[in-house]
Amino acid sequence: MYNLITTENQGIVQLITLNREDKLNALNIELIQEIGKEIDRLNHENTVRGIIITGKGNKAFAAGADITEFAGFNKIEAEKMSTNGGIVFQKIEQSRIPVIAAVNGFALGGGCELTMACHIRIASENAKFGQPEVNLGLPPGYGGTQRLAQIIGKGRALDMLISAKIIDAQTALHYGLVTSVVTIEELLNTCKTYIEKLIHKSPVAIAEVISCTNKLFENTEGLKFEVDRFSDCFQLRDFKEGTVAFIEKRKPHF
Ligand code: COA
Repeated sequence: MYNLITTENQGIVQLITLNREDKLNALNIELIQEIGKEIDRLNHENTVRGIIITGKGNKAFAAGADITEFAGFNKIEAEKMSTNGGIVFQKIEQSRIPVIAAVNGFALGGGCELTMACHIRIASENAKFGQPEVNLGLPPGYGGTQRLAQIIGKGRALDMLISAKIIDAQTALHYGLVTSVVTIEELLNTCKTYIEKLIHKSPVAIAEVISCTNKLFENTEGLKFEVDRFSDCFQLRDFKEGTVAFIEKRKPHF
């Protein structure tokens, strides 16, 4: 049914696994669209009580948007990628079924943004978070400039976004970016147990909690502004240098 994700029903729990382990589950356009389709399907069928998104393997949740895919994009292609990806991230955020990010390693760039579109983030001890897009000559393009500040506050968000620092799971816990940290072995079971406990809570009320809380943080203008600023950068030298440096496995010179 899907090429780049797997999806597995486990009773009232649905487990979606990003399945590009050799590329650290980097989010290419096809993979993001597959997540969107699956979130739509699960909300339409409305048979599970919670959705878990995780990455294949023990190293990465997702190490960002697929740099090799977008390195050759022009402004129009970048705008399309950011807009369409953003629609999927909003589908996750607006899912009436709670979505938990089981963060099992690197969650960088688009990977960190994907966790932030989820309602709950639970991390394994080896998880690492960051928005390193400035290394590529870009701001984040999947809502990172908006949601990071919403979740951890403007000061810490700007610190992470400007410095491209990578934080560990304990720091993410301290920042409130994740709600708990467990061993990698316990990660999926912890997420499943969380969902199994929801069996005694009203799904309609949970869906309304999600929609009402989202209302407070609704920021369509901010998200559109980010798409515009992100795609504009694709015309600049810094973007070319940043992406070529990544592909050539060297430090960029700005
Ligand atoms: N896009 C495309 N490919 C990626 C990727 C990404 N975001 N992140 C990792 N990969 C690929 C690497 O190119 C490599 O592929 P190769 O084996 O064909 O060379 C493979 O995944 C393994 O990654 P590698 O860099 O060799 O692993 P590492 O342990 O040395 O480093 C990271 C891990 C996460 C620090 C490093 O991969 C990295 O910095 N990734 C990019 C992070 C980023 O900038 N994300 C934001 C994108 S918007």
